[in-house]
Amino acid sequence: MPTFIPENIFRSDVDELTPYKPVAPFDVLAEQLGIPVEKIVKLDANENPYGASPRVKAVLAQFPFPHIYPDPAARHLRDALSAYLSVPAEHIIIGSGGDEVIDMLLRLVINPGDAIINTPPTFGMYPINARLNRAEVIDVPRRADFSLDVPAIEQAVANNPRAKVLFLTSPNNPNGGITPMETLERLLRLPILIMWDEAYAEFCGQNTAPLVLKHPNLIVLRTFSKWAGLAGLRLGYGIFPAPIAEMMWRVKSPYNANVLAQEAALASLQDLDYLMDTVQKIIAARDQFLQDVTAIEWLHPYPSHSNFVLAKVGGGRTAEGVQNALKQQGILVRNYTPSGLRGHLRIGIGKPEDMKRLLDTLAKL
Ligand SMILES: Cc1ncc(COP(=O)(O)O)c(C=O)c1O
Repeated sequence: MPTFIPENIFRSDVDELTPYKPVAPFDVLAEQLGIPVEKIVKLDANENPYGASPRVKAVLAQFPFPHIYPDPAARHLRDALSAYLSVPAEHIIIGSGGDEVIDMLLRLVINPGDAIINTPPTFGMYPINARLNRAEVIDVPRRADFSLDVPAIEQAVANNPRAKVLFLTSPNNPNGGITPMETLERLLRLPILIMWDEAYAEFCGQNTAPLVLKHPNLIVLRTFSKWAGLAGLRLGYGIFPAPIAEMMWRVKSPYNANVLAQEAALASLQDLDYLMDTVQKIIAARDQFLQDVTAIEWLHPYPSHSNFVLAKVGGGRTAEGVQNALKQQGILVRNYTPSGLRGHLRIGIGKPEDMKRLLDTLAKL
């Protein structure tokens, strides 16, 4: 009888995939560095330094039904989102983070051999989810200033009739730049579905969701991870044209968004004044940081409409070296060594005191 060979059971395309490199858990790092968790300044994953709203914390502490399955249709949350976005609830599909919504869409539309169009440098999960769903990834790189190369995208769509989804991110991660609405409107004329990822929309006051009602090929992606401080609970959602939303229910697993995530997201929408105040604080800290960082003459930041700043490291220093030196002091930032952004750091915006500690440490490097 032939023996079982574990390596032979994997899909060959999955075996060849480079996994997404998530940031290390900060409590593990704190232990490694011998620094107490509360002294760690975590600026490596664009989380909200103020955390969830007090209302969310109260709701979670008192939640009486963890033993009951969640509502698969997340009715209360989708109704609240409908009011928040000015879009009927039928258009909204909830996921365990925006990441899951990206995966669900690709599971719905990709036949083996289809393709997606990606515009790097941008969020790294699009090509990973695409390849997992057996889609080819066609890269149309952004220009040096990170703006979209619109004619090249149009050409790529014309040349690749099997390209099904174009991923566009605004504000873009990792540089924080926004794509003008006129560009989106122009690209919406193409015969391709556009997933317009607005994970950071609340930091630039953008709401493209109502446009979904006018365009059969537009999907808007949102999350509670960034502005609402719920990254750990995993709650994202998409706003879909009605025919696509209907089909999404077929790929959504019933209990993908857990009860606490749904309750927390709902409580966040009921505490908008508090949360929008923290968003304003983050924006103010970002603008202050962009001013103050000019004192570090070897660090060159790009303008940002989001809760992070991308900066090019110069002056004979390496991004890795700077990242490691900061890490030794308990300050975590993101570096892009393996990608086309070699020599850049992405710095999340923390509280004013976090940014001061970062600047003081940078000044001493
Ligand atoms: C552009 C962009 N889209 C989507 C996500 C996914 O967010 P989540 O899965 O936490 O909702 C992120 C997270 O970093 C992001 O930067």
